[in-house]
Amino acid sequence: MLAELIKVSKEYQAGDGKIIALQTTDFKLQEGQLTLILGPSGSGKTTLLSLLGCVIYPTSGDLYVMGRHVNKLNAKELAKLRLENIGFVFQQFNLLAPLNTEENIGMPLKMLGLHGREIRKKVDEAMELVDMTDRRKSLPKQMSGGQQQRVAIAKMGHQSQNYIM
Ligand SMILES: Nc1ncnc2c1ncn2[C@@H]1O[C@H](COP(=O)(O)OP(=O)(O)OP(=O)(O)O)[C@@H](O)[C@H]1O
Ligand SMILES: [Mg+2]
Repeated sequence: MLAELIKVSKEYQAGDGKIIALQTTDFKLQEGQLTLILGPSGSGKTTLLSLLGCVIYPTSGDLYVMGRHVNKLNAKELAKLRLENIGFVFQQFNLLAPLNTEENIGMPLKMLGLHGREIRKKVDEAMELVDMTDRRKSLPKQMSGGQQQRVAIAKMGHQSQNYIM
């Protein structure tokens, strides 16, 4: 087990009220699994990642990361845990590094449950729109900043309500 949240919540003080950034959550992060965290804007995805990444403490509940009880660590111990175990990869323009142009653009459609033929049609249209058809097999790192940006725009075109991170 890489990390476990047991009835963890996160609240922030806002004036005399409070904002619930993460509602009471049970969650396990297993080794060797690819985990996607999906949800509407403001639902607490970044807060969950920040907890898993040992950047913030939970307000209530118990958080374990790499077998350590995060609640009980001081800031210095927490920083050491982060340094030794956790890497944050911020993906420019939200493109996934191992996926090529058409895979990146089609990824949200796949997650929405669309069928292959439907996805290919929408992806072709989206690529056409941003003039990236000739780079359909290119990986993000093989493209210029502007080209990556156009792929990201094509991807968002049919994804206006879905956020990843
Ligand atoms: N440091 C903070 N202080 C006050 N409120 C916060 C803080 N961080 C997050 N929130 C609030 O907690 C809620 C969850 O925020 P969070 O950033 O986790 O959402 P998210 O799911 O990542 O959203 P998005 O998809 O827009 O990135 C939001 O209402 C946000 O305004
Ligand atoms: Mg976020």
